[in-house]
Amino acid sequence: MHAETFSQFERQGWQRNAVAYDAVDLPATRQAFGPLLDGVGDLRGRHVLEVASGTGHLAAEALARGATVVGVDVARAMVALARQRAPGASFHEGDAEALPFKDEQFDSVICCFGFLHFAEPARALREAARVLKPGGIVGFTVWHAPQQGGEFFGLILGTFRMHANMDVGLPPAPPMFALADSEVRDPVLAQVGFREVRTRDVAIAWPLRGPETVIEVVLKGTVRMRMVYERQTPQIQERIRETLRAATTSYLRNGGPGIPCPAILVTARRP
Ligand SMILES: C[S@@+](CC[C@H](N)C(=O)[O-])C[C@H]1O[C@@H](n2cnc3c(N)ncnc32)[C@H](O)[C@@H]1O
Repeated sequence: MHAETFSQFERQGWQRNAVAYDAVDLPATRQAFGPLLDGVGDLRGRHVLEVASGTGHLAAEALARGATVVGVDVARAMVALARQRAPGASFHEGDAEALPFKDEQFDSVICCFGFLHFAEPARALREAARVLKPGGIVGFTVWHAPQQGGEFFGLILGTFRMHANMDVGLPPAPPMFALADSEVRDPVLAQVGFREVRTRDVAIAWPLRGPETVIEVVLKGTVRMRMVYERQTPQIQERIRETLRAATTSYLRNGGPGIPCPAILVTARRP
């Protein structure tokens, strides 16, 4: 059965991804946790909302820094895993674009690699502003585009562009790297009412466990790319796997911590 809208499609996709998440995606996303928590300041005694809380590892780190933490994620399976990972936090199933919380509740709202999965990121930012207390801070990370050094996603997207039929009936998606672009991001933040916008780059390398790592990310750790892959012929699927395997093998031969996948950390204050 095919999801009808981008949002349904993402929710169902992350339901499927939940079990493998800690092995496949977390080794990269967790590299942003320290900078993100540092970016929103001292968390002792703070009431923090984590949006798109995934399997709960960032919530656990925020708890360890002395915050009280509430998490919200659209995928029920993610929420169940987060409850096991961070029993000291409370987790809710819900949508970033319609947060199930009253106005002005939180000192900080954090979101690590969630915004690129929301149908309307501006709505999610408006919701973050609504639930923040006056003076509260939002902090989020998004991936840099391939043109800004994002080699990891550049490799995957380039491989698909080279081999795949991309016209496979998926619902239209918002541009993946939109909020990494200040020309898109700054007007949206201003319109929603955020001030004191600050950014910093976060160096992330996607760790490689072997030649199959990138293929595994596509098949178990993405939503859209996996669906595109699953709708290709076996011959095209084999070409995609072969190209990704060869590229990953060269990165492994060159050594280093993994494939560069830099991110940008954005923080802003609600006046
Ligand atoms: C790449 S994972 C990030 C998880 C975690 N924040 C991390 O950094 O490891 C994206 C998460 O966003 C969640 N998500 C996608 N769309 C959402 C929405 N509209 N509202 C809330 N969560 C959403 C997914 O279920 C998934 O857990």
